[in-house]
Amino acid sequence: MNNNKPAETIEDTIQRQYACIDKVREINNEKAGHEGRQPTYDVRIFGCQMNEHDAEKLTGMLEEMGYTKAAEGEQADVIVFETCCVRENAELKVYGHLGLLKPSEGDKRSIIAITGCMMQQPHIVEKIKKSFRHVNIVFGTHNLHTFPELLLKYLTKGKRVFDLWDATSQVVEGVPVTRAEKVKAWVNIMLGCNNFCSYCIVPHVRGRERSRNKEDILQEVTRLATEGYKEITLLGQNVNSYGNDLGLKDAFADLLYALNEIDGIERIRFMTSHPKDLSESLIQAMKELPKLGGHLHLPFQSGSSRILKDMNRKYSKEQYLDLIDRVRAVIPDIAFTTDIIVGFPGETEEDFQETLDVVKRVRFDLAYTFLYSKRTGTKAATYENQVPENIKKERFQRLTDTQNAIGTEINKNYEGQTVEVLVEGKSRQSDAMYTGRTSKFKLVNFTCDRDLTGQLVQVKIVRAWPFWLEGWLIE
Ligand code: 5AD
Ligand code: SF4
Repeated sequence: MNNNKPAETIEDTIQRQYACIDKVREINNEKAGHEGRQPTYDVRIFGCQMNEHDAEKLTGMLEEMGYTKAAEGEQADVIVFETCCVRENAELKVYGHLGLLKPSEGDKRSIIAITGCMMQQPHIVEKIKKSFRHVNIVFGTHNLHTFPELLLKYLTKGKRVFDLWDATSQVVEGVPVTRAEKVKAWVNIMLGCNNFCSYCIVPHVRGRERSRNKEDILQEVTRLATEGYKEITLLGQNVNSYGNDLGLKDAFADLLYALNEIDGIERIRFMTSHPKDLSESLIQAMKELPKLGGHLHLPFQSGSSRILKDMNRKYSKEQYLDLIDRVRAVIPDIAFTTDIIVGFPGETEEDFQETLDVVKRVRFDLAYTFLYSKRTGTKAATYENQVPENIKKERFQRLTDTQNAIGTEINKNYEGQTVEVLVEGKSRQSDAMYTGRTSKFKLVNFTCDRDLTGQLVQVKIVRAWPFWLEGWLIE
């Protein structure tokens, strides 16, 4: 990997990207003139919200370069993979897609570009180099913004392009973005992670924490408000440490107070919060700021203090439960969601019972549950006492059964109530239904005879499902 990039300023790099964008657009326009059709793109996204937002930047750059979105089922002229490596499954899916794209004689040749977290791991780049020779452009998370330059290089030279930076201290501003949604928008506030939870590959592939300047964030959100966006979700691996690298104190709460003042934005969400860094000032902000709603995503990962220590989480079961109590004392009806890992190395039945105990005591609205996945390069991958797959799966089933019963009970309490929903668009459930969320992050599908996308509406809940609520619009 090339680790001495970049010698120039970020403004210069971005300016060069715009020059490359212009050149690629010229090439595409000329080609479109010959072929009678504009070339197409397809961005395939794996993983978390951070990747969804990075994909919006890739899409923005592609559209500026003159590509249009490929139709459903069409093989695009440029296919870009935004990859994830947080669990093995995500990686296997990417290999599956790449395998299917291996061209045979006479097949359409697409340009295949691949980026994202997987590409920050040298052993994976090697595999792509050797086993997937039809992949044309490979770049990583730190140089996503240089995609136009790399694509132009490939278009003009015709040779495979590999450009990977193993670190960066930069925060890039000014990349074109085409947002996937019209009502809610993702906004990065910080990149990277300093925590090194022992199971987690993220700090190895996303680098150290870098916060964006408050002014840049406020400017972006103000622009989103003028474009009609109603909800923003602030993204960072650990939003509670926002500003630490800039030498600021309590900067996350300050940022929330400033964002709350922006007219037009009705709701502000954020993820993810690390329990060890959740400050009193944030709890206070959640109480005082109406736009923050009553939801907090607070991953606990395991209920066993011994496992938490091995995970390097820096809190115990008791400290986590105490934190939940402290938040509830200030915001009594808050909805909690969480992340839980089952089968971390050395996890015994007793440890797992502690996890079930936290689930039962806290009563989360929703839990994202994961089977532990061994990630090369992390500390936990070197632990010898890995839990057998069948035991992991059996515990996972008990955990999801327990959580689903709780989630359903919580949802049942909504039956007969009226809730406020920010309408996001048509529902996937039925053509006659629209979808949106409450301020507490409850997914609501409701019957309505006209499109009220972007508006806050009142919905009467008539039926609770395990993961969503069903209702109808109240005029
Ligand atoms: N195995 C399983 N789950 C993991 N997560 C992170 N790393 C791993 C891993 N190696 C989960 C954590 C984290 C969420 C985003 O993914 O629960 O909070
Ligand atoms: Fe991974 Fe822990 Fe950082 Fe979250 S806080 S990204 S789980 S290392």
